[in-house]
Amino acid sequence: MRDFDENNITDAVIEQFSNTPDQRLKQILVSLVKHLHAFARDVRLSFDEWSYAVDFLTRTGQICTAERQEFILLSDTIGLSMLVDAIDHPSEARVTETTVLGPFYVKEAPELSLGADASGGLQGVLLYVEGTVTSANGGVLTGAIVDIWHADDDGFYDVQRTDLSKAALRGRFRTNAEGKFYFWSIVPRFYPIPDDGPVGQMLKATCRHPNRPAHVHFMISADGHETLVTHVFAADSPYLDSDAVFGVKSALIREFTSEAAGQAPDGRMTERPYRKLTYDFCLRQKHW
Ligand code: BEZ
Ligand code: FE
Repeated sequence: MRDFDENNITDAVIEQFSNTPDQRLKQILVSLVKHLHAFARDVRLSFDEWSYAVDFLTRTGQICTAERQEFILLSDTIGLSMLVDAIDHPSEARVTETTVLGPFYVKEAPELSLGADASGGLQGVLLYVEGTVTSANGGVLTGAIVDIWHADDDGFYDVQRTDLSKAALRGRFRTNAEGKFYFWSIVPRFYPIPDDGPVGQMLKATCRHPNRPAHVHFMISADGHETLVTHVFAADSPYLDSDAVFGVKSALIREFTSEAAGQAPDGRMTERPYRKLTYDFCLRQKHW
């Protein structure tokens, strides 16, 4: 093995993977080398550019902490996360469309009872959220866990704010005997993804904005079903057609309707007008 040039190096590297016992690992590495080499040839990659890319990826790793995952953000902003989502979650009749998880999900969100206020006392336009969880087999799902989280009135998640001592704008609900869930919160605003690191530099260098349209995140799990990770986007939000992470699907856009003060669907009397979001979710059955 010696004297490699532009024409024979790819095959030489692939040959070195020929004894890989795990066939899936072998397939992935061989394809990765083929595509990476083809890319370098295609753009006639210079040593300085390769060096810059190594530094960019190094900085991407160095800014990662337990709370910040810049590599996933990079994957999100170059559309790789949504491509993998599309490959791994192909559309199925009735089943709710999926989208990116995002960095603001917290595993231990407070468990709240149906009808509870998830706003954590934060100010904003009142929002009532309701829906039903069903199975792709047609039945309603009782006891499904509906985990929700969203940004505040200024576009910040609770974990981004230093002035909060407890969780806000997030919670875990359980569907009732009719498969229904409902809760109160405040209307979220659109917001920029974290753009003070290498990903932000990439967005700036390419004249892209960092914003995501306003949305409420849902993670819904039920026995015998695949966990659904998705959001519902507000139909009146800016950036629906230029989401920085390519996460918008038409089926996930809903009107947050304007409702007059008075008795809300859960019987609560509101003194202020409020907005209402209704969305019914359908989970894919697990096939073993
Ligand atoms: C989010 O919706 O929370 C999010 C998703 C991807 C990247 C950044 C934020
Ligand atoms: Fe979000």
